[in-house]
Amino acid sequence: MDLRELLNARRMNRSFSPATVNPKTMLRIVDDALRSPTAGNSRGVSFLVLSDPSDRDAYWNHATDEAWRASSSRYVGFARAPFIVLSLCDPEVYTNRYSESDKASSGLGQTTDAWPVPYWFGDAGMATMALLLGAENQGLGAAFLGNFRNERAVLDHFEVPAQVRLFGTILLGHSDGKAHRSRSLDRRVSRTSRLHVGLFGHRAAETD
Ligand SMILES: Cc1cc2nc3c(=O)[nH]c(=O)nc-3n(C[C@H](O)[C@H](O)[C@H](O)COP(=O)(O)O)c2cc1C
Repeated sequence: MDLRELLNARRMNRSFSPATVNPKTMLRIVDDALRSPTAGNSRGVSFLVLSDPSDRDAYWNHATDEAWRASSSRYVGFARAPFIVLSLCDPEVYTNRYSESDKASSGLGQTTDAWPVPYWFGDAGMATMALLLGAENQGLGAAFLGNFRNERAVLDHFEVPAQVRLFGTILLGHSDGKAHRSRSLDRRVSRTSRLHVGLFGHRAAETD
C-alpha cells in the first residue's frame, strides 16, 4: 500500500483474534517506528513490548480494575491481542539534550516546566502513529488506548524508571472482524474545516 492508502485504511481495531504474530515481524514493525523524529534528536522515546501471557495479564490487571474488566464489552476482545506495546517517553532525556552546548541557549535544559510544549509527548505520538501505520502495512490490527489511571502502577510493575512517562498503549495482533464501532466515530468534523490556508479562517478547497 502507498502512504495515502495506508492513512485512509488505518482504523482502531477493538477486537482481536487469538492468532499470534511472528515475534520477529512484530519487533521489526516496532523497531521501524522508532525511526520517527524526536526534538533535537533527543531519542527520548521508547517502546516496551509485552507478549508473554503473564506480562499481558499483569498489564491489564494494573491498568484496569476488576469491575471494568467484568463489565466492559470490549475487554475480552482487547485482551486477546497477542502484543501490548507501551509507548514511553523520558522528559529527562529532553532536558539533558537541551542543556548541551548547541541547545543551551533555548533555556529548556534546566527543568521540564520551561518547555512551552512538552515535546516528549509529541514525539511519543509520532512514534505511535508510525507504529499504527506499520501495523496497517502488515495487515495487522492495532488500537491505541489512553491510560488515564494507574500510569505509575503499570510502569512500576515493569520496572520502568520513575521519571519515564506512559504516553499510551498500543494493542497489536489480528483483527477478528468483530470490532465494536466506537461512538467517537459519530462525531463528524470535516477535514476541510481543519485545513486552514493563509489565515485560520480561510479553508482549503475540497481535495479529492
Ligand atoms: C490520544 C488518543 C487516545 C485514545 N484513547 C482511546 C482509548 O482509550 N480507547 C479507545 O477505544 N480508543 C482510543 N482512541 C482511539 C480514537 O477513539 C480513534 O482514533 C478515533 O475515534 C478515530 O477512529 P479511527 O482511529 O478508527 O479512525 C484514542 C486515540 C488517540 C489519538
